[in-house]
Amino acid sequence: EYIYKIRGIKHLEDKLKKKLAIDNVIIVPGNIEEDDYVLDDIGKATAACIESSIYYNTIVGVTGGTTMAAVAKGITKPTKYSNVTVVPARGGIGREVENQSNIIAADMARRLKCQYQLLHASDMLGVQAMESILKDPEIQKVTSIIKSVNLLVFGIGRADKMAKRRELSPAIMDKLEDLKAVAEAFGYYFTRGGEIVYEMQTIGISFKDFEKISTVIGVAGGANKAEAIMAISNLKKSMTLVTDEAAAIEILLKY
Ligand code: BG6
Repeated sequence: EYIYKIRGIKHLEDKLKKKLAIDNVIIVPGNIEEDDYVLDDIGKATAACIESSIYYNTIVGVTGGTTMAAVAKGITKPTKYSNVTVVPARGGIGREVENQSNIIAADMARRLKCQYQLLHASDMLGVQAMESILKDPEIQKVTSIIKSVNLLVFGIGRADKMAKRRELSPAIMDKLEDLKAVAEAFGYYFTRGGEIVYEMQTIGISFKDFEKISTVIGVAGGANKAEAIMAISNLKKSMTLVTDEAAAIEILLKY
C-alpha cells in the first residue's frame, strides 16, 4: 500500500505532480492524522521552502490554521536578506484566537528576525463596519502591503470543517453543500474543479491578487484533505504543494 517504501518518496512526488498538474510537490513520509511528528515534519519542509524563496524585500503573506502554526515553528534561522516583511494574507481578529494569521505572521517574523505588520480588524464585521474600517489610514497602510505580497504560504482546509470552525450560518452551510464546496483557502470556498462558490467578507488578498502572486506554497496533510488539495491544485499551475504521504496516496489511489 505504501508505494514509497518500494519506490521512494521521490517517485511518489513525481506521480503526484503529474496527477495534480502543478510544478512542485514536496511529500513528507507518514500520516498527519496518525503521528504528531508528521505535522512537525510538514512544518519543517515548508519552512525550508520558504527560506529558499525569500530574497531582498520579499513580502511574505501567511494564513492561519494549525498547519500554518507548525510552519512558523519550523523556521529555525533568521533570514540573511534585508527588508523582509511578514503579513497576514487575509482576515484578522476572529474566533480562531490561537491559530489566526496575525499570530502566525508575528511568530514567523520573530523567527526570521524580520519586520511584520498586523491587521487590527475583526473578520466578523458586517459589510458597513468593514467599509468604514477600510478607510482607516493604519488599515490602509497594511492592506496596501498585503496587496504586494510576493510569497504566499497558505493552509488548505476542507470546506465543511472550515465552515464549522468559523461558525457560518446554517443557511450558508447548506449553500456550500448544495454548490458542492470541498475546499477552503484564504477565505474562499471552492468546488472540486476549483470554482469559487463563497467568499468570506474579510480584508486582505483577493482571488485576483492570488492569481498574480509569483510564488505560492499550499500546505496540507492527511487523507481527509485529499479532495480539498485536488481542488486547490486547480487554482495555480506554478504552485508548490507540501503534503504528507497519506494524502498523496489517497489522491493517487482513490481519485
Ligand atoms: C485557515 C486558513 O486559517 O486554515 C485556510 O485561512 C485553511 O486557508 C485553514 O483552509 C486550514 O486549517 P488547518 O487547521 O487544517 O491547518
